[in-house]
Amino acid sequence: MTLQNQHILIGITGGIAAYKICELIRMFKKSGADVKVIVTPNALNFVTKLTLQNLSQNDVYEGEFTPKNWKPEHISLADWADIMLIAPATANTIGKIVQGIADNLLTSVACAFSKKMIIAPAMNCNMWQNVAVQNNLNILEGRGVEILPPDNGFLACGYIGKGRLCSLEKICSAVDEALNYQQILKGKKVVITSGGTIEDIDPVRYISNYSSGKMGLSLAKTAYDMGAEVVLVTTKDVEAPYKVTKVKSALDMQNAVNNEYDGSDIIIMAAAVADYRVKNYSEQKMKKGGNENLTLELVKNPDILAELCKKRQAPLPNPLPQGARENKIIVGFCAESENLIENAKEKISKKGCDFLIANDISRKDIGFGSDNNEVTIFDKNGGINKLEKASKQVIARKILEYITNE
Ligand code: CTP
Repeated sequence: MTLQNQHILIGITGGIAAYKICELIRMFKKSGADVKVIVTPNALNFVTKLTLQNLSQNDVYEGEFTPKNWKPEHISLADWADIMLIAPATANTIGKIVQGIADNLLTSVACAFSKKMIIAPAMNCNMWQNVAVQNNLNILEGRGVEILPPDNGFLACGYIGKGRLCSLEKICSAVDEALNYQQILKGKKVVITSGGTIEDIDPVRYISNYSSGKMGLSLAKTAYDMGAEVVLVTTKDVEAPYKVTKVKSALDMQNAVNNEYDGSDIIIMAAAVADYRVKNYSEQKMKKGGNENLTLELVKNPDILAELCKKRQAPLPNPLPQGARENKIIVGFCAESENLIENAKEKISKKGCDFLIANDISRKDIGFGSDNNEVTIFDKNGGINKLEKASKQVIARKILEYITNE
C-alpha cells in the first residue's frame, strides 16, 4: 500500500472500537498519507485527543467554532481531504448523515463532503440488525458511500454477534483501492443515459418499456468512483453525489445529452430509448366513446446514439468551444432476444459507435430488472469480449476498464 501525499480525513465517533483507530492512523502514516482526525464529543470518552494528535502529527478537530483560518472548519477540512473515512461509525452518526443533520463538526463535514466516503460501522449486534439502521445504510450506499460491514465475534457489550469493527487491514485496503481507483478517470467527463423513455399518449397514458435503469446507474456509480465527473441522464428518480438530469421522453433525453456533448469524453447510451412516439399527443384524456378498436399513429424517434456518432464525424469547430473535448468514446447498448452476435455486429457498424454492449434479453436471470448481467462487448474493429455473469456493479467496472484500456 502506498498512500504517498494522499489526504485522509478520519472521523471517529463514540464507540469502544475508537481505540483501534490509533493503530489505523499509524498504518496510514507509515504508507505516506497525511492524516487529519475529527472526533465527536463522545469519541473522546474512549480515546484521547493527545494520542490522536501525536499519531496523526496534526491537530485533532472537535469543535466547529474555533477556526484557524477564514474558512469555516467544516468546509476547509472537506476541501482538504481526498477521502473521508468514518470509523467506528455509530448508528446515531449514520442516521444523522442520512438525514443531513449537521450538529457537530463530524456530521457538518460529512454534510459538506462530496468526494469518496467510506463508513465502517461498529455497534451492538441488535442495533446492527435494526431495520432503521439497515435502511439508513442502504440509503448511504445508494448515494455512493462505501460501507464496510462489521465482523462477527465477541462484542464489548458482552454479546456475541455481528457488530465488531471490521479488520484494520480491510479498512486500509478499501481506502487504498478507493484512492487509486479514483485516479483512473480523473479529469474525464462521462455522460451516461439510463432507464426506459416514456412517450405520452394523453395526460394519463404512455408507452414505455421494462428497463429498470440499474445497468446505467451501476455504470454511473462506478465511473464516479473512478474519479470521473459524471452526468446521469435518466428517466428514473435517482439520488446521487454526481449530476443527475431527469428526463421523460426520447426527445427530452436527446436534448439533455446534446447539452452535455461538447464537454464530454465518454458517452454511454445504456437507456432503452423508445423507437417510436405517438404522432398526435392528446391534451385531454382520450375517451373510448363507442370505439371497439383504437389505432394510434406512431412516428419514429431520432436515434440518439447514431446522431451522436454522426455529430462526432463532423469537423470540429475552430477554435474549440471552451471546455470542449476532442476524441470522444461513444458506447451503445443493445438488447437482443435472438441472433445476438449477428445483430450486434450489424448495429455497431450501422450506428457508428466505438463499442456496443450486447444484452441477451431472452435470459430471465440477467438483464431487465435483474441485479445481475452477462454481456458481450463488441468493438468497432471486430473484437468480441464476453463478460461472464456477475452483478451489474462488477459488469459496470469491467465495461469501464475495457473501454478505457482499448
Ligand atoms: N438508441 C438510441 N435512440 C433510439 C433507439 C436506440 O439512442 N431511438 C440507442 C440505445 O440507447 C442503445 C442502442 O441505441 O444504446 C441500441 O438500442 P436497441 O434498442 O438495441 O436498438 P435499436 O436501434 O432500437 O434497434 P432495434 O430496436 O431495431 O433492435
